[in-house]
Amino acid sequence: MSQWMTTFPGYAWLLSTVKKIFGNIIKTGPVPRHIGLIMDGNRRYARAHNIELKEGHNMGFESMASILEILYECGVEQATVYAFSIENFKRSSYEVKWLMDLAKQKFQQITQHGELCEQYGVQIRILGNTSLLQPDVLKLLRQAEDITKNNKRAILNVCFPYTSRDEMTTAIKGIVKKSTEVDDFIIDESTIDKFLYTKDAPPLDLLIRTSGTYRLSDFLLWQSVSSQCSIVVIETLWPQFNPYEMSKILINWSFNKYWYGNSNGYTVRGNPDNLRLSNDEDLEDDEPNAFTTSYNRNPIVEDEDSFDRDSDSDRVIDNENDTVPSEESSINIKTA
Ligand code: FPP
Ligand code: MG
Repeated sequence: MSQWMTTFPGYAWLLSTVKKIFGNIIKTGPVPRHIGLIMDGNRRYARAHNIELKEGHNMGFESMASILEILYECGVEQATVYAFSIENFKRSSYEVKWLMDLAKQKFQQITQHGELCEQYGVQIRILGNTSLLQPDVLKLLRQAEDITKNNKRAILNVCFPYTSRDEMTTAIKGIVKKSTEVDDFIIDESTIDKFLYTKDAPPLDLLIRTSGTYRLSDFLLWQSVSSQCSIVVIETLWPQFNPYEMSKILINWSFNKYWYGNSNGYTVRGNPDNLRLSNDEDLEDDEPNAFTTSYNRNPIVEDEDSFDRDSDSDRVIDNENDTVPSEESSINIKTA
């Protein structure tokens, strides 16, 4: 959207009213209870628009606030955002500092004003390995948690700094400790759920990644594997991702949930080496290797500057040979 439009008197009011209307329409159907967001593409956006990388991250924050507003307007109970990966500590020291300063500045604003949190009754929770943070950053994050702790309408989980592997390692340590303290301590899948950072969150219904990179980058791996969770990858860079595009994803999710009883219209079944498409309706519950994702024929571009620069995991999913797929054979993880 052209920048000049935002300077019109009444623009903010109009936008907020449109979001409310969209929200009320979407609310008439099923709404995901818990959404995860991989907010990728800030630096590519900055480079493409000839602005400082730092400014790209700033715009990423603005985009996040705007997307959260529509989510809470629609009745989403929890949003979990990937604000800083543990892998991001490997970035240049000045970029890490920008991101830490951005967090400090924004969380300070939240503690001082907290308009969005108050307006929507949003409680902030910090998830991740907070022992890796500097004390001044951690202090502000804890203050934001504290000041919003009585807000009951919705929850914003800010993953800062987070990776799934770290979350699972922490869970395993907690479980081992508990099992030495409690006799006959039962360890099953639900035990692991209870030891994850997301233990208080409803099951993940929808995971969205921007910027057309087809990887999960160590985000909510345990949580997103459920057949009830849709994974949507869109080409838009995060700072450009807007409430309109978000609404389209929500409507698509809602439509599939309503008609198929599952948020994915089509499901890829069986061994990943030998994938075949089937409709959810004829998916049998006892099929052990079934997982949900769906076909899309967009070309996939490898991105060196990926979310976490973890080159080992820079591969895209391919049903033939796990290399960069051709346009015809590619599978994007995306709802139908
Ligand atoms: C990924 O884009 C984005 C990040 C590593 C930072 C995400 C943070 C925000 C959107 C701001 C939210 C901040 C707070 C304080 C909650 P990238 O840097 O990997 O960009 P690229 O993929 O284009 O290289
Ligand atoms: Mg990236």
